[in-house]
Amino acid sequence: MTEPLTDRPLVQVLIASTRPNRAGEPTARWVAEQAAAGGVFNIEVVDLAKIDLPMLAEPGHPSERNYQLTSTRAFSEVIDRAAAYVFVMPEYNHSYNAALKNALDHLFWEWRGKPVILVSYGGVAAGARAAAALEPVLISLQLHVVGFVPIPLIDQFLHLHDGRRLFRPTEPIEHHLTNALDALRRAMQQRTA
Ligand SMILES: Cc1cc2nc3c(=O)[nH]c(=O)nc-3n(C[C@H](O)[C@H](O)[C@H](O)COP(=O)(O)O)c2cc1C
Repeated sequence: MTEPLTDRPLVQVLIASTRPNRAGEPTARWVAEQAAAGGVFNIEVVDLAKIDLPMLAEPGHPSERNYQLTSTRAFSEVIDRAAAYVFVMPEYNHSYNAALKNALDHLFWEWRGKPVILVSYGGVAAGARAAAALEPVLISLQLHVVGFVPIPLIDQFLHLHDGRRLFRPTEPIEHHLTNALDALRRAMQQRTA
């Protein structure tokens, strides 16, 4: 038996894509709404397109946590405050996108030991190859995958509404996310037990 969570842990929904008109933005908005609706987590959206992060330019290894750049220090503060993450990530050329790798490489202790859900998307392969390619990176940082939500042919779920693109999933996708969030809740309970 695990105890219910007393405090709501902060879960960050990270938008990995940085492109204009990216599918990742409406998809992440939907993920954030679903995650907040359960009343179990506090949710913060972290948008890599809005984070001022150059290609890694720190002289030291991130495990030293001796950051020289203001941009790294600011990003460290953001990532450090979360207890868990949901990566909303596209598939580019059968892998994950460069902005996500750059963000992950910048830090070390801030990620370490925390649970993560992967929401991957793309064409018919649903971003599954991107998620698979990310696995060794997550192992290195000791980020523990507790849920996986692959979304195939992402464009079919994007609808224009009042000039805004909305992500409207089918029931199985919604069900997948609910299960993943439930697994995250259990993982957080075990961590606080
Ligand atoms: C550079 C690039 C490479 C892509 N490669 C793949 C791919 O290998 N497999 C796939 O399923 N979709 C691929 N796509 C299609 C993307 O998954 C699709 O455009 C998706 O909307 C990208 O996410 P974003 O709009 O949030 O950036 C690629 C798109 C781009 C821009």
